[in-house]
Amino acid sequence: MLISIDRVLTKDEVRALRVELDAAPWQDGAATAGTLAQAVKRNQQLADGSELAVRLGQQILRRLAATPLFISAALPRTIYPPKFNRYAGGGTYGAHVDSALMFLPGSRQQMRTDLSATLFLAEPDEYDGGVLEVEGPFGVQEVKLPAGDMVLYPSSSLHRVTPVTRGARVASFFWLESLVADEAERTLLFDLDQSVQQITPLLAADDLRLIQLTGVYHNLLRRWAKP
Ligand code: NI
Repeated sequence: MLISIDRVLTKDEVRALRVELDAAPWQDGAATAGTLAQAVKRNQQLADGSELAVRLGQQILRRLAATPLFISAALPRTIYPPKFNRYAGGGTYGAHVDSALMFLPGSRQQMRTDLSATLFLAEPDEYDGGVLEVEGPFGVQEVKLPAGDMVLYPSSSLHRVTPVTRGARVASFFWLESLVADEAERTLLFDLDQSVQQITPLLAADDLRLIQLTGVYHNLLRRWAKP
């Protein structure tokens, strides 16, 4: 399932990030791609361990921790420190599947990538192309969101970024390992949680039906989560 999360960052926050990112020293993205991905990847990235990447990444993680829709959809166990990329002048990333296992930077700890995230940091009218295309059970879904919005999609899906033919597409991207590895189980939990959230304001806090539904959510989570 593909989940859009609106306003992870406010427009003011995006503007402040962009002032720093637009002046940053961008590097060739192919340097950090795996052997197969190198052939299809043409973009720029911010150096991973740089002070700027670390500081802006931490800012994004703080906002995500305070975004209930993200927590509900992702049930994150481990989040890879956010990275930053820039596509311009025909820059593109051909069809690929993200690596299943990754080492956290500067660590021997490995994580499984269950979900991939793209946080858009350029408005759609700043660039032509640069569409994230994700193949799913119902065909290809095209994603190009307002600046500050984020999309979550299964890391197992085939995806690509179409060539940017005008302007520049700036984004943050990262992966996460979920407490619930199975996509179908995680989607059921998300749907149930969202339904409970929607009916909660309509019922008294001690309504037995609400208490039972909330109990079902937690007991499914207890069954499926692998902390
Ligand atoms: Ni990818």
